[in-house]
Amino acid sequence: MTEEHPAFLPRIIGHRGACGSAPENTLASIARAIELGARAVEFDVTISRDGHPVVMHDFNLDRCSDGHGPVVLKTAEEIATLDAGGWFAPEFKGEHIPLLSDALELVASKGVALNLEIKPTLGWEEPTARAVAATLKSKWPADARILVSSMSTPALDVFGDLMPDTPLGLIVYAVPGQWRELLDRHNCLSLHCYSAFVTKELVDGVHASGHRLHVYTVNDPVEAGALFNMGVDSVFTDHPDRLLAARIVTGKEAPR
Ligand code: G3P
Ligand code: MG
Repeated sequence: MTEEHPAFLPRIIGHRGACGSAPENTLASIARAIELGARAVEFDVTISRDGHPVVMHDFNLDRCSDGHGPVVLKTAEEIATLDAGGWFAPEFKGEHIPLLSDALELVASKGVALNLEIKPTLGWEEPTARAVAATLKSKWPADARILVSSMSTPALDVFGDLMPDTPLGLIVYAVPGQWRELLDRHNCLSLHCYSAFVTKELVDGVHASGHRLHVYTVNDPVEAGALFNMGVDSVFTDHPDRLLAARIVTGKEAPR
């Protein structure tokens, strides 16, 4: 797959923005990742009770905001009143849980690539995928680089039917034996897995079947170097600056 292919992501992807130095999945975190040199960012998207996609990793509001309970029981208006920065550090107080549309606008304005992870509350796979597709259709520039991923195969299937030209990625934790069949069944161009499950055999197999391998979450430059030497295509990191500063040499292009 060449760099011109729409599914091609840069080698270093800011995880939840740059969640090592800013509150995850906020506009501040996305902006920080780009300031730190990332040429791609990942964030997670779920929906509110009234169907608005918002940038949030957890089913519940408690860990990353001053709200409580399931995201899917609150309206977008209620979610917008919450503070999503003070839990991380006082200087981020006043950050909000972004609407997907606001996060898309920021990423597109910076000209970096996006890996949007659909993170549906269990049972809300279809409306979440539909809401993400509708927002992308109206807000994301047609020529901007995006890959949509999920651990939820129902969400990938619904999204894929609505936006068949957008590349898809399947996220797993441990790599299942039937990964090839899963990628084919759900029309995915990439496999995303936890770093401990990467082997050279897996990398070679993924490439031989015409797919790409993206690995999370890699914050140690030495580990990143070893993964790139095995042929891993991209890593998700909470600290893009650490990996970029290490100038990891792989015999390929600089690790951006
Ligand atoms: O997409 C890679 C990574 O973000 C998946 O795990 O839990 O951080 O969304 P998680
Ligand atoms: Mg994610």
